[in-house]
Amino acid sequence: MSALEAIKYSRGKLEVLDQLRLPHEHHYDEVSTSEEAFDCIKAMRVRGAPAIAIVAALAASVELHNGSCTVTGTEDVIKYIDSRLDYLYESRPTAVDLGNAVRLLKKTVRGVKTEGLTDAEAKEAIIKAFVEASEEILAKDLKTNKSIGAFGAKWLQEQYKITDDSKITVMTHCNTGSLATSGHGTALGIIRTLRDEGLLRHAYCTETRPYNQGSRLTAFELVHEGIPATLVTDSMAAALFRLRKAEENIAAVIVGADRVVRNGDTANKIGTYQLAVLAKHHGIKFMVAAPTTSIDVDTETGDDIEIEQRKREELTQISGAVVNADGSIDTSKSVRVAIADQRIGVWNPGFDVTPHEYIDAIVTEKGTVVKGEDGKFHFEDLMPERF
Ligand code: MRU
Repeated sequence: MSALEAIKYSRGKLEVLDQLRLPHEHHYDEVSTSEEAFDCIKAMRVRGAPAIAIVAALAASVELHNGSCTVTGTEDVIKYIDSRLDYLYESRPTAVDLGNAVRLLKKTVRGVKTEGLTDAEAKEAIIKAFVEASEEILAKDLKTNKSIGAFGAKWLQEQYKITDDSKITVMTHCNTGSLATSGHGTALGIIRTLRDEGLLRHAYCTETRPYNQGSRLTAFELVHEGIPATLVTDSMAAALFRLRKAEENIAAVIVGADRVVRNGDTANKIGTYQLAVLAKHHGIKFMVAAPTTSIDVDTETGDDIEIEQRKREELTQISGAVVNADGSIDTSKSVRVAIADQRIGVWNPGFDVTPHEYIDAIVTEKGTVVKGEDGKFHFEDLMPERF
């Protein structure tokens, strides 16, 4: 079965799957400018920390490749590229991957040797370096996710000594799969690897209110991949753990991350924190799967993470396709339905912060990190270049 692809790219052309139309319709939008990428990210047609960064980088690269930069000369070209990247950076604040991509691309263009070149040659060299670096972000993400999958499955195997008779059940929250990344996924990548290695009994995915990334995207990916899975609402986790942990060998909650800070506190989709508290209470491992690009060692604790507030309509309205009387789905019409009194006040933070105390392991592409004797996570050995 072909893997789902959120991002289709060839040099000079970027297409992005419109995730607002999933799971009923598969429609790709061509994204050729920074403005189109900004809208696509802001409107959540693409979402998930790695995918957002990849789309921003590739859109800027397509735009440059196709001649959007009308100035020449090293200084002016770099100034133009900076302005495009600064603009894209404003599209969504919480996930750190976009900021990292912006920093990397700015550093790349500043590292191009242009002495002795004509203005036109300098411009060409800078744009070529930018395009190659953004393509590298895409290629690296897939490798990263496969490593995260392998390290996460290995860590669980070490904890539980899983056999054919003791396969484990896991829960995940939000969407962290092919749709949120360049492919394979982070938390969902670990679940995929567990399945591939014959270690997975069953996966539960939460609906992930209010934006329903779990029911719209993760449930869709799990079905698409043929992974044995069940959808629950966010409010069912406590009852599920209490009633089914022993019978189904529920062993871990595995989530992604939008930003992991220096002590291991982790910002992820709203609802993650409550699952971590529940997992601890029920003796279930709580794992964060995150590429090292999601680790922000410059921020000390989760209190310093800016949390995006989302619009009120995400709670008071919902959109979906029409269900015909025979149960089939009419994909020609999308409807928006009011599900609350439209005058009610709404609090809608897009993310929450799980304190590191509740996290058992942070799985990256470079290995799995557990807490030190001081009860905190330390990333110095994993990414010494950042310290
Ligand atoms: O608001 P979203 O849909 O972009 O949030 C996505 C999440 O919170 C994911 O769990 C996170 O970005 C990890 S993606 C591999």
